[in-house]
Amino acid sequence: MSSFKSDFPVFTHDPTLVYLDSASTTQKPKPVIDAMTTFYEKQNANVHRALYNLGEEATNAYEGARKKVAQFVHAPSDKNIIFTRGTTESINLVAYAWGRNFIQAGDEILITEMEHHSNLVPWQLLAKETGATLKYIPMNSDGLLELDHIDSYFTSKTKLLSMVHQSNVLGTLNPVEMLNQKAKSVGAVTMLDAAQSVPHKSVDYQKLGYDFMAFSGHKMLGPTGVGVLVGDMKILDEMSPFLGGGEMINSVTMDSSTWNDVPYKFEAGTPNIAQAVGLGSAIDYMNNIGMNTIESIENELTEYALEKMKKIDGIILYGPIKRGPVISFNIDGIHAHDLATFLNQDNIAIRVGHHCAQPIMDKLNVPSTARVSFHIYNSKQDIDTFCSSLKQTQSYF
Ligand code: ALA
Repeated sequence: MSSFKSDFPVFTHDPTLVYLDSASTTQKPKPVIDAMTTFYEKQNANVHRALYNLGEEATNAYEGARKKVAQFVHAPSDKNIIFTRGTTESINLVAYAWGRNFIQAGDEILITEMEHHSNLVPWQLLAKETGATLKYIPMNSDGLLELDHIDSYFTSKTKLLSMVHQSNVLGTLNPVEMLNQKAKSVGAVTMLDAAQSVPHKSVDYQKLGYDFMAFSGHKMLGPTGVGVLVGDMKILDEMSPFLGGGEMINSVTMDSSTWNDVPYKFEAGTPNIAQAVGLGSAIDYMNNIGMNTIESIENELTEYALEKMKKIDGIILYGPIKRGPVISFNIDGIHAHDLATFLNQDNIAIRVGHHCAQPIMDKLNVPSTARVSFHIYNSKQDIDTFCSSLKQTQSYF
């Protein structure tokens, strides 16, 4: 059993649960749940508005979480951290507030063929609206980016590179520093979808060098409803607001408004305060274990699972050997949805479908895959249980 499992109340509630869907959302440790309960029981007030003690406590808790996020991803300052609802909203924020001001007809937006829909559809919408062209760095059948002719993708027309750090389907770890440098060499702005990397390893925003980086709280042991956009201050300053409303303004007359400073310019309305506090607590929890420890435990689990799964007759594994803690697969002759239904009878939770990445399915020439993904609460025993249930399902068919 994972020594961390007992920190997660869901496994006390249901000790037989084998949860293998952390790429979708992670379970929450007790300290994260407690931090949010404590906030609601003892600190609840709106932030940045109240001149009473409780309001100051709430503001300190919320801004304290922003500082923790900044340190966790090595942002230059907490001012570079914008709280959003999640990765999807962070990317849409950039597509609207930067894209609609700085992308024009004839410009090129470069993404890859292994993007989640959240890093694809916003750029399709932007390209349609502005007359820009959306271009893709291709992916090969091993689930790796095709880099042989990589220089040809970066031209004077390339205005944005937006790409995934670690694939949510294949676990592929992309050479993001090299691609950022290529994009910067043609003067493009760069954005990194780090939703699947920040929860599993130490990620250094300044070292990677991207202008924008997005991730979600709920995939890193934190609550749903909170995510992060890390951004370059100069670019954030030049951008228009995203949503209009309270707190994002400096002054408002009947005719016009001026904007608050970054990051508040992008945080209209009452933010998800308790969720941000919960995210801060998830960061404390992971820091206590150490991101390098988390990465190496998850690597060991992934290698163990790959070795065991490889030995199952009729299994097709997708993606490269070296990868994050995500494995997509199919079993000859069994529909992925049937697999999930059978595994569920043994209380094993896996995800099946296109994983919000239909272009990857097209490239793999399959309608769907089954997928297992891990976090710190998983154990080799979980993988053994999963593999034996997989074999039993096979014998049934
Ligand atoms: N992006 C999430 C996943 O891959 C929902 O499952």
